[in-house]
Amino acid sequence: MLGYASFSDAQQLGQESLQGNEQQLAQEMLKLITQVSLERDPSGPVKRLNQVKTQGCFNGSFTVRNDIPEHFKQGLFAHARRYPVYARFANASTMDDSEKDLRGLSLRVFDVQGLPVWGVQGRQDFLMNSYPVLFAQSPEVFYQFIQAQHDDGLVGFFLNPFDSHLKALRILLQARERPNSVFDIRYWSTTAYRLGRDELAVKYSVKPCSDYTSSEPNEYSADYLRQAMKKHLTKTPVCFEFMLQQQSDATAMPIEDATVEWDEEVSPFVTVADIEFTQQDFSSDEALSRCENASFNPWQSLAEHRPLGRINQVRKLIYQQMAALRRARSNL
Ligand code: HEM
Repeated sequence: MLGYASFSDAQQLGQESLQGNEQQLAQEMLKLITQVSLERDPSGPVKRLNQVKTQGCFNGSFTVRNDIPEHFKQGLFAHARRYPVYARFANASTMDDSEKDLRGLSLRVFDVQGLPVWGVQGRQDFLMNSYPVLFAQSPEVFYQFIQAQHDDGLVGFFLNPFDSHLKALRILLQARERPNSVFDIRYWSTTAYRLGRDELAVKYSVKPCSDYTSSEPNEYSADYLRQAMKKHLTKTPVCFEFMLQQQSDATAMPIEDATVEWDEEVSPFVTVADIEFTQQDFSSDEALSRCENASFNPWQSLAEHRPLGRINQVRKLIYQQMAALRRARSNL
């Protein structure tokens, strides 16, 4: 039985509170996620457990600005420079765009200088969802949710009088939307990351800045989002700003509770880079298959941007092994 972690100790800025059971927990979660994935796709290619529907991947530029605050000039953001970027947009849980859902954005920046804490040299990944907070405060709650979903016990998970997860329910209900385009919405890391070598912790967010925004589709078909993306690219390049938010209060902006939004009024997000995608064929069979077979990992990261906190701890093994399983099943 997985217990809850408690964080009664006074926290300091930038401090994570690992409990020592994260690797064991990661193994148990991996076992369950593998089981759920293989039950869903018993043969042939295996789809991702999360961010299941590939909307498309885009090659573009990630340009670090030169007018960013001095203390943000760390790692990838140390110098104003243009990097290649590969970005995957996805639906979190449904293959049918007309259903309300969370959307995901995965970024991989290439030609990055410095050694990664894990993965291939020269790459920096950033993974984000279209809502400022995660429904699960801890990896234990995430685990219980997957288990309950698998056992058809979500009502019990949310409403159990002894251990209810009403906040998770509220967040999941609020986070699901039906946007006109995935190019018009904002994305957040929800969990915290190091910035530099000292105690700084930040969250990431990406906000749209294109001249064009999509209007409501004539029909909310199962693939209307790809149509909106195509139309956008024929009219104008896609623009996003990549932003950092500094943790300025260890209690009100916790690292170990991903359901707590860090107040933007107290610590505003600051734009540090510009992302651009120009017209390209992202929906050919070849481009979609490359995108489906891609994999990202928050630990594919420079030490200056390393993931913080217990939720990020368990993600390393899970993403690594699920990507390996997907590659093996796709004969890659
Ligand atoms: C304990 C917490 C979490 C677990 C267990 C988890 C699990 C997973 C799994 C199994 C995948 C599929 C990986 C693959 O097959 O390659 C995935 C993908 C993804 N997750 Fe998470 N996740 C967690 C937290 C988060 C958080 C906090 C975010 C960001 C807000 C996030 C964003 C994403 C994104 C964007 C993808 C798609 C990656 C891609 O494009 O390949 N996840 N997650």
